[in-house]
Amino acid sequence: MYAFVVPCLFGLEGPCADELRRMGLEDVRAENGRVRFSGDGACCAKANLRLRTGERVLLSLGSFEAATFDALFEGVRALPLEDYIPKGGQFPVKGYCLDSALHSVPDCQRIIKKAAATRLGGAYRAEWLPEDGAMYQLQFSLVRDRAEIYLDTSGAPLYKRGYRPGHVAAPLRETLAAAMVGLARYRGRDALWDPFCGSGTIPIEAALIARNRAPGLNRTFAAQKWGFIPRAAWSDAAEEARSLEYRGEYHIFASDIDPRAVSLSRENARRAGVAGDITFALADACTAPAPWERGVIVCNPPYGERMGERQEAQALYRDMGRTLGAMADWKQYVISSEPDFERYYGRKAAKRRKLYNGMIQCWLNMYW
Ligand SMILES: C[S@@+](CC[C@H](N)C(=O)[O-])C[C@H]1O[C@@H](n2cnc3c(N)ncnc32)[C@H](O)[C@@H]1O
Repeated sequence: MYAFVVPCLFGLEGPCADELRRMGLEDVRAENGRVRFSGDGACCAKANLRLRTGERVLLSLGSFEAATFDALFEGVRALPLEDYIPKGGQFPVKGYCLDSALHSVPDCQRIIKKAAATRLGGAYRAEWLPEDGAMYQLQFSLVRDRAEIYLDTSGAPLYKRGYRPGHVAAPLRETLAAAMVGLARYRGRDALWDPFCGSGTIPIEAALIARNRAPGLNRTFAAQKWGFIPRAAWSDAAEEARSLEYRGEYHIFASDIDPRAVSLSRENARRAGVAGDITFALADACTAPAPWERGVIVCNPPYGERMGERQEAQALYRDMGRTLGAMADWKQYVISSEPDFERYYGRKAAKRRKLYNGMIQCWLNMYW
């Protein structure tokens, strides 16, 4: 059994923990900005392939007090790294420090690298480690003088699903789009409309959810090259994921005022294998008629982080409120970094939830 840690965007700990529990994984515990679970190599493969809201899957190698560089060095040197990293494995180090006596990330990286090299050099009786093999990215967190050391099993972050090489200026992270669709309780039965589709992230994630298609089937993961996780774990997890897919007819509508965004969304949906599930259209969200009688609107209108843009965004929220906001048969889930969104939209939300799009604090304004 291994201990795993899934970092996630702040605000998504609950949805991420729910996903892991639904996969049948054990010891799932949500913490601030991350979720823990335990399991074997098969669980690692399953989580990487199927998680929609987690950023990556880290395997925890150990945790210890480290208020000094000596303690950090000795703590890392005591870890049985040779059980995981072979002689030729590459083991770069990255991580972060928070509220700790050791606060220089580059210095901690250097110490951890040196300690890991000392441990592996001793285990392999080698003065020099070639580092010409598979990637075993070491990560560390140092929080209030407690270090935890991990191996990154994912490689590229999980939000890189492989369908969005092209995106508009302010794309939503795929993990956040999936969480919004989940929070809107969309499961593929109702109609869903994103009237500000940009590069198509929300409708594409909605289609993947409707089909119950694992988001990681189109990409690879670092741990696929690791000897201690059986190859079969990955092929079995992929086969199981494929067997859980549904085929159905979905009512997903994606529109945008910018023709480039519409064609980009279409192209990204094609890459994700869900173009047939989504209808695309060029339309102004403030004047477009609803595509169906009722359903759920999930959208990410422009935020306007700079002053002039912010005023433009506020004017847009007013216009939206008069049209979209007045569609009583459509539940609405609108993400915005505007703290006063409800005032401009002209409607008090049934509920607001604080979420982060990367580093930007936002609210998901929910109307039902
Ligand atoms: C923040 S981006 C959406 C990003 C999208 N969620 C993604 O992940 O790529 C906002 C989008 O709203 C579009 N937009 C701005 N005003 C609009 C309007 N009045 N009607 C429809 N789309 C509009 C922009 O063209 C842009 O693509």
